[in-house]
Amino acid sequence: MGDERVFAERPGQRNSAVLERLQVDHERLAESLSALEALLVRLDDDSAARAFVLHLEFTHEFCELLHFPLEDALLEVVLEAGLTPSERRVVFVNLAQHQVIYAEALTVLEQPAAEASSEPGPRAISRATSRAEFRRAAEAYVRALRGHLEFEDRHLQPLLRRHLTTRATARVEALARDLLATLVGKPLERLAALDATSRELAAG
Ligand SMILES: [Fe+2]
Ligand SMILES: [Fe+2]
Repeated sequence: MGDERVFAERPGQRNSAVLERLQVDHERLAESLSALEALLVRLDDDSAARAFVLHLEFTHEFCELLHFPLEDALLEVVLEAGLTPSERRVVFVNLAQHQVIYAEALTVLEQPAAEASSEPGPRAISRATSRAEFRRAAEAYVRALRGHLEFEDRHLQPLLRRHLTTRATARVEALARDLLATLVGKPLERLAALDATSRELAAG
């Protein structure tokens, strides 16, 4: 996950290093998304709701701290590459989707039911309305993230492969290194802890 190795330069393969990193991120996101989708149908169950919130917290923070900033930087750089109008549309739709997913995650997390779910024990969700709202928000988040991953696989990856030059990649790698430097310490430690907990949950 988000450590320095991922951004390490590979002589002669600098373009593929960034794309490879996106691929690795997407594999992790797809895993987490599958866990979220499996839990969606069981959200009336307190332990399933707690597990959902944990997976979502990981996914949200992973996207917010690492994945979206890297992609946003890539998209900004690629916009300078003389894209066609339809390619520019892909970039702007992509950027907008990041913001929607971020907002949908916050909508789930601000539900009283989500708050209760993140702590085991007697604070379990009790009100039916709050559960229904929680479920609606959870479904919206999962739908937005699933649609986004599919959109990127279908439209963004080919666009990046076409336009990402070695020079542009070097700029993105520099930005990624700066970004990581700001996250070293508590943010990355928290993310690693969420990652480990969500993997344990998925395995258990
Ligand atoms: Fe992505
Ligand atoms: Fe994205």
